[in-house]
Amino acid sequence: MYVADDKRYDSMQYRRSGRSGIQLPAVSLGLWHNFGGVDNFENSRAMLRRAFDLGITHFDLANNYGPPYGSAEETFGQILKKDFLPYRDELMISTKAGWDMWPGPYGDLGSRKYLLASLDQSLKRMGLEYVDIFYHHRPDPDTPMEESMGALDTAVRSGRALYAGISAYNAKQTSEAVKILRDLGTHCLIHQPKYSMFVRDPEQGLFDVLEKEGVGSIVFSPLAQGLLSDRYLKGIPSDSRAARDFFLKKKDIGEAALAKVRALNEIAAQRGQTLAEMAVAWVLRHPRVTSALVGTSKVSQVDDNVAALKNLKFSAEELRKIDGILAGKQSA
Ligand SMILES: NC(=O)c1ccc[n+]([C@@H]2O[C@H](COP(=O)([O-])OP(=O)(O)OC[C@H]3O[C@@H](n4cnc5c(N)ncnc54)[C@H](OP(=O)(O)O)[C@@H]3O)[C@@H](O)[C@H]2O)c1
Repeated sequence: MYVADDKRYDSMQYRRSGRSGIQLPAVSLGLWHNFGGVDNFENSRAMLRRAFDLGITHFDLANNYGPPYGSAEETFGQILKKDFLPYRDELMISTKAGWDMWPGPYGDLGSRKYLLASLDQSLKRMGLEYVDIFYHHRPDPDTPMEESMGALDTAVRSGRALYAGISAYNAKQTSEAVKILRDLGTHCLIHQPKYSMFVRDPEQGLFDVLEKEGVGSIVFSPLAQGLLSDRYLKGIPSDSRAARDFFLKKKDIGEAALAKVRALNEIAAQRGQTLAEMAVAWVLRHPRVTSALVGTSKVSQVDDNVAALKNLKFSAEELRKIDGILAGKQSA
């Protein structure tokens, strides 16, 4: 039987999600990859156990994580039943709908019909009565935002979700969505944008909106799917995400990217960190970032990513050097 480490709250840092009662761990774990029906169940289970033992109280899912679609929620449901049920009230579990999930016009995008049916399916797969956060996974340009936000509000009011969130909405869409939710009486707890040293879009207005509206942010792919680590410095390992050549493409591991990765790796070494640790620390340096949402394929990566918290401070000189490297202007 799994018994969680009784020191699990000793070193993790918790940060408040905007103006809300919820604090999230500085590092959260996402189940997009490596928790599907095709993956090794005991490895998935070991990563979740290790994460919780280190104080990671937040696990992030979506309806279509797998493969096959839905299977990450099924895996999570099985592990929850075996290991985590006594700890349910210590966990923040999120899921999402918004991308393609089932065939036909009601299994994708942003209709009320899709979002609420999908949430009911997710709850069944995970064996849960409610999720802590239900997200609209991406904006739908053809559905009135009132309808998608109305569905999130219903999810919360009906008790299927405790909080509402949005993902991949730009700054303007976020302002609108937050206002619609507020008018309905539901606060938008959190936004989930993509953010890393390689993808800095949220700095162009989104973070300002989140600050103004009191909405937290949990940033996904802070390691740029593994590129911001030492994983690809000596080629493409056969067990890596890039080897699968789908979400992270082999062509993305070109010389231009690797030159930056090598220079960043040197700065990380000077800071006494791995590059993965520095990549996590770098997103957390931003005051608008509540949590870094990492993925992992092995237990050692969970350890490494949490070890980032040992050094979150960057000097102005380090930040200047990093900006120079990212702009392709200088080496370390
Ligand atoms: N809202 C959205 O639209 C959206 C989109 C994408 C992701 N997400 C969420 O964000 C989560 C994280 O996304 P992500 O998996 O792309 O994040 P990521 O942390 O940028 O990349 C994770 C990958 O990086 C590698 N890695 C992780 N830690 C490492 C370490 N310490 N050293 C070396 N390599 C390391 C592993 O790749 P290998 O497998 O090669 O070992 C791992 O699978 C997802 O699980 C999901 O919950 C949300």
